[in-house]
Amino acid sequence: MTLKEAILLRHSVRRYTEVPIESEKIEILRAAVNKANEASNLNIQLVTNEPKAFSTGNFFHFEYGYFRGVRNYLVMAGPADKASKEAIGYEGEKIVLLAQTLGLNSCWVGLTYREVSGVFRRRPGDRIHCVIALGYGETQGVQHNLRPIESFIAADAHLHLPDWFLEGMKAAVLAPTAVNQQKFCFSLENGNVVEARTRFSLIGYTHVDLGIVKCHFEIGAGAENFSWK
Ligand SMILES: Cc1cc2nc3c(=O)[nH]c(=O)nc-3n(C[C@H](O)[C@H](O)[C@H](O)COP(=O)(O)O)c2cc1C
Repeated sequence: MTLKEAILLRHSVRRYTEVPIESEKIEILRAAVNKANEASNLNIQLVTNEPKAFSTGNFFHFEYGYFRGVRNYLVMAGPADKASKEAIGYEGEKIVLLAQTLGLNSCWVGLTYREVSGVFRRRPGDRIHCVIALGYGETQGVQHNLRPIESFIAADAHLHLPDWFLEGMKAAVLAPTAVNQQKFCFSLENGNVVEARTRFSLIGYTHVDLGIVKCHFEIGAGAENFSWK
């Protein structure tokens, strides 16, 4: 499965079977985690066979998203600045899509988990931005509602957009964002310089979302076709 296919197939999955993730796949995921941490000074950690973070008793379970059977998850930790938040999104989504190519399901989780002591090593200054549930889903999830890509492109940039840019936008709108808020906007300058910005949100997570969306855009557009502003 290619990463473009993984983008089309990935949907948030909140209920998991008891089928364990095979040790070879765990090793592939751990290698990807190490690579991500080295690339961006993050402290992502893969936690396996740990059911407590998603056990019931958390108020938010009844408010937003009900999870079942989660025993494997990524703790998405790193510094608290905006660039690190974006890196959390970008690097985390690369692992999510890798997991999808391995036949695994996933869900980014900002609220509906509990921090379990002893399973995670925190560096000074680290903040846990969110976690990502991983495993074999009971279902493959459902496609979120899609809005037209024009609503994510800066108004003055609509004319004469190259195919690679439109392919990038098609991949971007399939990206997971917190409560599907999709608070982002793209524009194109000088033929091949792309800017991606956050839009205002009361909910937050816009910089993590932006990193996720930029990961999708790069895969859809082809990184060789453009540079980021
Ligand atoms: C940063 C972030 C935080 C999220 N937090 C939660 C959460 O706390 N609970 C939950 O059920 N889903 C959470 N989600 C999943 C979103 O609700 C989901 O990605 C969105 O509705 C789009 O659906 P899709 O992922 O199936 O495309 C989160 C997603 C992101 C990107």
